[in-house]
Amino acid sequence: MPRSKKSAAPNWTRKHLLGLEDMTAQEILTVLDRADAYLPCVTQARPCPPTLKDRTVLNLFCEDSTRTRTSFTFAAERLGARVFQFHAATSSLNKKESLIDTARNIEAMGLDAIVIRHQERGAPHRLAEAVACSVLNAGDNAHEHPTQALLDMLTIRRRLGRLDGLTLALVGDVRHSRVARSNFFGFSKFASRVICVGPPVFLQALDVKAETATDLGAVLPECDAVMMLRVQFERHESVQFNVDEYIRGYQLTPARLARARPGAIVLHPGPVNRGVELTNEVADGPQSVILFQTTCGVAVRMACLELCIGALDRERRSRTAQARRDRRG
Ligand code: NCD
Repeated sequence: MPRSKKSAAPNWTRKHLLGLEDMTAQEILTVLDRADAYLPCVTQARPCPPTLKDRTVLNLFCEDSTRTRTSFTFAAERLGARVFQFHAATSSLNKKESLIDTARNIEAMGLDAIVIRHQERGAPHRLAEAVACSVLNAGDNAHEHPTQALLDMLTIRRRLGRLDGLTLALVGDVRHSRVARSNFFGFSKFASRVICVGPPVFLQALDVKAETATDLGAVLPECDAVMMLRVQFERHESVQFNVDEYIRGYQLTPARLARARPGAIVLHPGPVNRGVELTNEVADGPQSVILFQTTCGVAVRMACLELCIGALDRERRSRTAQARRDRRG
């Protein structure tokens, strides 16, 4: 287990975690190694070092969430931080206060980090420009969900032993999935193959240069890991989509899964539409790592909060030192 803040990745310079697109493989490994060390705190309830004692984290969720909000809360609390839960539906956002004004007012009360989920692409990035504390993206529209991809990567590394030399299928509603995009960016830094699989309607208008396939049965024999994506019904205004056809072509059933490589694992970020993306037998079967993903999520978020707030501390210290020098002339 990481013992003190001193041992926390001295080369880590990011105070914000906004996406995996511009992160390096080394930065990803830094998060995963640190999360790995925290995993026993989560799985065996081992005591954690209170490296975020007296820190305050704001969970600013403007979209529904179960796993991500809970996971960030547990992660921050395990490291000793206080977490304030912001609920958009009962906030002054309803009185037309802007997101930035809301965040800056709460920051003025004393904040170290804001975890934000927002329906607008780029909202976390705009927030990061406007506040001095750390900002962690917990999902912005269909753009990025970096901590989800990092927890998926930790799950895969724990279960398959590596991040290189694998074939991973991202199956289903790739077009509307921020989870798929962040995983694509994450795995593209390693020597693994990522195949986006789904009906043409979900492969159209992809803004990433990914390998695509429409025949799940043909792709499965090559797969070490199969990540089923939730069908994003709420983002389908302009999409012609028939759920029965989708089930016939893409639902992961025991028979289909039997075609994947021996030992292949099945992931899903949740929430699962049981009977749509996968059957109960697969969701609850021996190859499913869905619950382990949520366990890894807490460890990953502990690592991310600690690394980002560590970088924020270094920035604050150097600002204070500079201000002192300026005063002395
Ligand atoms: C995902 C999300 O919200 O993007 N869920 C999650 O964070 N665990 C996936 C989804 O809703 O499809």
